[in-house]
Amino acid sequence: MSLAKILRILKYGIAAPVLDVIIRNSTLLDGRMGVPPEPINFAGGGNFREIGEQQVDLLVSRARLSAEDRVMDVGCGIGRLALPLARRFPSLDYSGFDIVRYGVSWTRKTLREKPNFKLTHVDIRNSFYNPFGRVPAEQFVFPQTSDSLDLVFATSVFTHLTEASARNYLKEIGRCLSQGGRVYLTAFIVDDQAHSRAAFKFSNRIGLAYVASRSEPEMAVGYDIVGLQRMAHDAGLSICEIFRGSWRGDIVAHDFQDAILLSRS
Ligand SMILES: C[S@@+](CC[C@H](N)C(=O)[O-])C[C@H]1O[C@@H](n2cnc3c(N)ncnc32)[C@H](O)[C@@H]1O
Repeated sequence: MSLAKILRILKYGIAAPVLDVIIRNSTLLDGRMGVPPEPINFAGGGNFREIGEQQVDLLVSRARLSAEDRVMDVGCGIGRLALPLARRFPSLDYSGFDIVRYGVSWTRKTLREKPNFKLTHVDIRNSFYNPFGRVPAEQFVFPQTSDSLDLVFATSVFTHLTEASARNYLKEIGRCLSQGGRVYLTAFIVDDQAHSRAAFKFSNRIGLAYVASRSEPEMAVGYDIVGLQRMAHDAGLSICEIFRGSWRGDIVAHDFQDAILLSRS
């Protein structure tokens, strides 16, 4: 097992429950100005606040997010989008769930329990973020009634889901969306060109998924467009638009990952 994998298991498997207790019972890890202290931030690289604001701008411009929408943030992490959404759309009907308990606790505490921002922790297994989780992602039923949402988004989450999990999540998203509802996902869309400056080399294939590491598949997962179309179609969703990110190293773009706008057909 690599050192990086051992450190991740220590962080998300062993230290995470302790961090959760500290966050809920002290002010030690509260951070400043709605930004978590760096050692507990697992949202990804870059400036937490700026990227959160930028993702909300993209939800508005690309997915037509409006204050009246009923939205779900799948894999809401440590509140990188929930916090700017609460600042900009204080009465938004928002629900989010994540598999890292302390991320949910930190966000709830920082939001000061806004009742229209409903956050749930679910103990779903992911080899990267929750290695000892009890619930398999491919069987998880979203905590949401059918036909009850206008917009579902998942930023940097399908990049950690292999095929069976991604299919189940798309099916669940389709179930929860109302007719004509929208979905905004970020993803790594793999093509057949060799991109020498790409941030990930997706050289292993497991079903429809391309993974950067065979020993730790859920670290970084990509799909080609045919696979994405097939999974979306099987979930009753259609792809409306694709936005290319800069991760391949061949273009300058708004975002690092690619993004996809879908609708419930
Ligand atoms: C890079 S972080 C992004 C977090 C957040 N969406 C954001 O943009 O700040 C990836 C997130 O995916 C979550 N995740 C991984 N597997 C998941 C699953 N099966 N269901 C829900 N969330 C998952 C992780 O816990 C982590 O919060």
